[in-house]
Amino acid sequence: MNKFILFSNIKGGVGKTTLCAHFTEYLAEQEFPVAAVDADLQASLSRHRERDVKEDPERPIPWEVIKLNTFEKDKVESVVKKLKKVDGVIVVDCPGNLNDNNLSVLFEAADLIVVPMAFDVDTIDATGIFTNVVKKRSKAKLLFLPNRINVSEGKAKELEMRDKIIKDLNRIGKVLPRIKQSVIIKRYTTIYPLDMYQYMALEEPFNAIIAEIKKIK
Ligand SMILES: Nc1ncnc2c1ncn2[C@@H]1O[C@H](COP(=O)(O)OP(=O)(O)OP(=O)(O)O)[C@@H](O)[C@H]1O
Ligand SMILES: [Mg+2]
Repeated sequence: MNKFILFSNIKGGVGKTTLCAHFTEYLAEQEFPVAAVDADLQASLSRHRERDVKEDPERPIPWEVIKLNTFEKDKVESVVKKLKKVDGVIVVDCPGNLNDNNLSVLFEAADLIVVPMAFDVDTIDATGIFTNVVKKRSKAKLLFLPNRINVSEGKAKELEMRDKIIKDLNRIGKVLPRIKQSVIIKRYTTIYPLDMYQYMALEEPFNAIIAEIKKIK
């Protein structure tokens, strides 16, 4: 069965590409048939894969990275149509903006949208704007994924604010368990398995996404 999952937010640098790569690898390790789509003009994911392969050309490739140029509407529509027929999970790394109208094709196709975010004012504002736009374009459930959370941060007032934000976001979608700011997460490869520390840091939020994937009819 086909499941179409986007990693998206209008805010740049929140961890879309990093978490998209880790999550695709996580799914592959759980033996889900899975492929990643790089829908960002920056092509961070595709270029990362190219570097990984250059460094270790003998290594078998665990999942495909499909590059999608979203500038040509017909092309996007035909590629997405094909991808929706694939028996497996398609994980899409989206760009950090909504300037490209053709992204609508992806939002319409999505079954779930994972929204990496953080609790600083700018990211919350941007995530709010993103949510309003996406709600008009997509029926997909929104899964907010707090990322780069500093464990030592959090005065009482900040924590109170955070609780309120989580409460508000839980009305719109679902807030997933958070991922901490850590070099363990920052370092990602597209050809090797997750190491034990990455696994420990990611399994809770990723299992929560998988539980949502399993709920899709
Ligand atoms: N949990 C984390 N801990 C530490 N660093 C992180 C974490 N998640 C992401 N990063 C780092 O944050 C930066 C931005 O991450 P990434 O490129 O994945 O974001 P993005 O949302 O895809 O950005 P863009 O909008 O440019 O596509 C990178 O340097 C990445 O290594
Ligand atoms: Mg990116």
